[in-house]
Amino acid sequence: MDKLLIEGGTALRGEVAISGAKNAALPLLCAALLTSEPLTLNNVPDLNDIGTMLKLLAQMGVKIARDGSSVRLEALVIDNPVAAYEMVKTMRASILVLGPLVARVGEARVSLPGGCAIGARPVDLHIKGLQAMGTEVSVEHGYVHAKSPKLKGAKLFTDIVTVTGTENLMMAACLAAGETVIENAAREPEVVDLANCLVAMGAQISGAGTDVIRIHGVARLHGATHRIMPDRIETGTYLCAAAATGGDIRLTGTSASYLDLVVDKLMDAGCEIESSRDAIRLKAPPRLTAVSLRTAPYPAFPTDMQAQFMAINTIANGTAVIRETIFENRFMHAVELIRLGADIKIDGNTAVVRGSDRLQGATVMATDLRASASLVVAGLVAQGETLIDRIYHLDRGYEHLDQKLTALGARVRRVR
Ligand code: EPZ
Repeated sequence: MDKLLIEGGTALRGEVAISGAKNAALPLLCAALLTSEPLTLNNVPDLNDIGTMLKLLAQMGVKIARDGSSVRLEALVIDNPVAAYEMVKTMRASILVLGPLVARVGEARVSLPGGCAIGARPVDLHIKGLQAMGTEVSVEHGYVHAKSPKLKGAKLFTDIVTVTGTENLMMAACLAAGETVIENAAREPEVVDLANCLVAMGAQISGAGTDVIRIHGVARLHGATHRIMPDRIETGTYLCAAAATGGDIRLTGTSASYLDLVVDKLMDAGCEIESSRDAIRLKAPPRLTAVSLRTAPYPAFPTDMQAQFMAINTIANGTAVIRETIFENRFMHAVELIRLGADIKIDGNTAVVRGSDRLQGATVMATDLRASASLVVAGLVAQGETLIDRIYHLDRGYEHLDQKLTALGARVRRVR
């Protein structure tokens, strides 16, 4: 099992390119199931989760050709509309095949994802929406069995804002008879990126990016070519690493759009940020000022950046209060940061972080994707060596992390 060895104390300097967004790429790959014609996706990040999704789609009969960061998918025939537990347990986003399979072939057997480190993460709202569109759903032996001769448009309301729930239902609605309205829809930029691709494939969608999305079903979708948006969470993670280490970095192939609140918080913390159409630069102050935050659905502060901001607050000047309102157990990085010398008190979904003037390197363990990122940020600023175990979590969501950090001057290496 790989580990990451970090020698802390170097200010990050230089320039790296940001990859395509994992959380846009995953639903976009599933969109290929909606048509028998080829869908070509560009700027696909090279991540374990992407590999897992491609394997899952290939098992269903999708023809896949990969050329660097371009992937061509052709679902001419889907002869196995099944997502098995072995596959789904390693990547919950597999649930995103459910809507497209029901819409395209009228049936699907998808393993329930099961819990994950950050919370129960049920998929009841995905199922409820498909049922409202005329799908018979039964849950047996840990699998969702869905059958629907023909989906029909419906008025849907999800009582919790769900990103992949909105994406699943939007994809299913593209081929349903009549109009579907999704109220209380997720407004994340990745939902908009998916909608833009579906429209390029012939779907009739309006309102993506707002909390009411209208989809007018069509008989079939055709192929298209779509470039995946930049990864705003990867962008935010590198900005935090530069902020924590007193660095000065430039990120290309990305921008500050979709990161308004994150950029705002980093400026409150004392960073100077310049943004252009396809690049963003951050210059850190000698010492950060603590910033409090509260996670909530887009456009509020993203839960996927909460752990990274906890890390930068551990060495900031002052006290920060962090509230996590999306997931019930997304503070597991706190105990690991405490091993590095951080002063953090957890009370339910609130963490109080008192900044200290230094952290000390130690051996720590990654528990989930963004928790691992927060340990990397802390390790980069801690004195001495930090060894992070179970970094397969990182490889799921950060493309070539050690190479990119090394290019920014960090002393990081992967050890077996
Ligand atoms: C997406 O997960 C992202 N993953 C997550 O990113 C992200 O943290 C999350 O949205 C919130 O922004 C992908 O897009 C692949 P939700 P998702 O459905 O869709 C509850 C990362 O680090 N809920 O928006 O699974 C749920 O338990 C990952 O890249 C139900 O109760 O999240 C949670 O409390 C982690 N029933 C809340 O809603 C449902 O049917 C939001 O979850 C669905 C969700």
